[in-house]
Amino acid sequence: MWSVVSLVFVLIVSGSAATCPCEKEELCQPVQHEHEFEVFVFDVGGNTWKYYDWSHVTTVAAFGKYNAELMCYAHSKGARLVLKGDVPLSNVLDAAKRTAWIREKVTLAKSQFMDGINLDIEQVVEKSSPEYYALTALVKETTETFHREIPGSQVSFDVAWSPRCIDKRCYDYKAIADFCDLVFVMSYDEQSQIWGDCIAMANAPLNQTLAAYVEYLKMGIENKKLVMGVPWYGYDYQCLNLSQEGICSIPKVSFRGAPCSDAAGKQIPYSTIMKQVNSSMSGRLWDEIQLAPYFNYKDGTGTIHQVWYDDPESISLKAAYLGQQNLRGIGMWNGKLLDYSNDTVAQKQSAQMWNALLPKRTF
Ligand SMILES: *[C@@H]1O[C@H](CO)[C@@H](O)[C@H](O)[C@H]1NC(C)=O
Ligand SMILES: *[C@@H]1O[C@H](CO)[C@@H](O)[C@H](O)[C@H]1NC(C)=O
Ligand SMILES: *[C@@H]1O[C@H](CO)[C@@H](O)[C@H](O)[C@H]1NC(C)=O
Ligand SMILES: *[C@@H]1O[C@H](CO)[C@@H](O)[C@H](O)[C@H]1NC(C)=O
Repeated sequence: MWSVVSLVFVLIVSGSAATCPCEKEELCQPVQHEHEFEVFVFDVGGNTWKYYDWSHVTTVAAFGKYNAELMCYAHSKGARLVLKGDVPLSNVLDAAKRTAWIREKVTLAKSQFMDGINLDIEQVVEKSSPEYYALTALVKETTETFHREIPGSQVSFDVAWSPRCIDKRCYDYKAIADFCDLVFVMSYDEQSQIWGDCIAMANAPLNQTLAAYVEYLKMGIENKKLVMGVPWYGYDYQCLNLSQEGICSIPKVSFRGAPCSDAAGKQIPYSTIMKQVNSSMSGRLWDEIQLAPYFNYKDGTGTIHQVWYDDPESISLKAAYLGQQNLRGIGMWNGKLLDYSNDTVAQKQSAQMWNALLPKRTF
């Protein structure tokens, strides 16, 4: 009796009882194929995934509700669908709790026919603290468990735009990169801690972005482990004052020790930006130092705003670097931020954003 009960239990928790929701049984198989170039998409839910450029997508990180239709579709395109992994580090300091958390995630992934996990742990971690070591151990064991339980699966880890303890996230970057399949560098929100003048600046200025990759590579992290994350959103700042030179001063909003932050602004989707830019005060401007587009507009109350964003021109400059450096690929936060409506201008703009991800090869 006991053995029957435990057998049923094993069947349920291991997910082997789940039935394949796809039209063809084979679409429930995990993706085995290695993509030479990754296009890593964060999907935050809804149905816009249907309009992604599936000729490019290789991995979708499901940050929204699980969608079986998306899983079947991604697999039909040879793309992986991976779980989101986030856990308070205080819950996994203990090795047994860590193992239990990983077991729960791998069981969930299997029951949903998924292909791995994206660890998105953006918590404050002090160098050489118990959390610091627990995080590295978590990455190592997650990768070992997923690879063993789901052959061909992918374990990725998200890091800030620079390895310099951004937002007080000090990790053992090199060890983490060694222990997982790829590291997604979130090359955005680069003004989360402003130490200089409290002014509106680019979300991801080119030089600052690329200099941080040089630092990651100098730590000995392999090129083929690094995926460059680009923003499909910008920041809208209310200016306290817009100087003659076009400098927009912003309110002091502190963040994790810095006196000023992009938290003074509001994140806005590329789709919204494209609807505003042509009718703005300035139209699209280009900053020759940060190599990013921006514009100024006046709202209904007469307040001037400055909007900084990325578009195909600024993204292509970043993509060119990853081509030269042979990085593993590119990705974006997030796939839903484009306008996928049937409007012809919007369709063209969205297609250009997808195309800008691919480094143009110069032979
Ligand atoms: C505010 O903007 C005006 C007009 O451009 C400029 O003359 C002035 O110097 C600015 N003030 C500050 C404090 O930056
Ligand atoms: C805005 O202007 C650009 C450049 O003139 C044009 O290509 C684009 O179609 C316009 N966008 C909209 C939404 O009208
Ligand atoms: C950006 O970096 C390049 C190469 O390191 C350098 O030549 C250039 O002056 C930098 N530009 C700015 C605006 O800092
Ligand atoms: C765009 O048009 C196609 C065919 O005309 C239709 O099937 C689709 O639902 C439309 N998409 C949107 C977002 O309106």
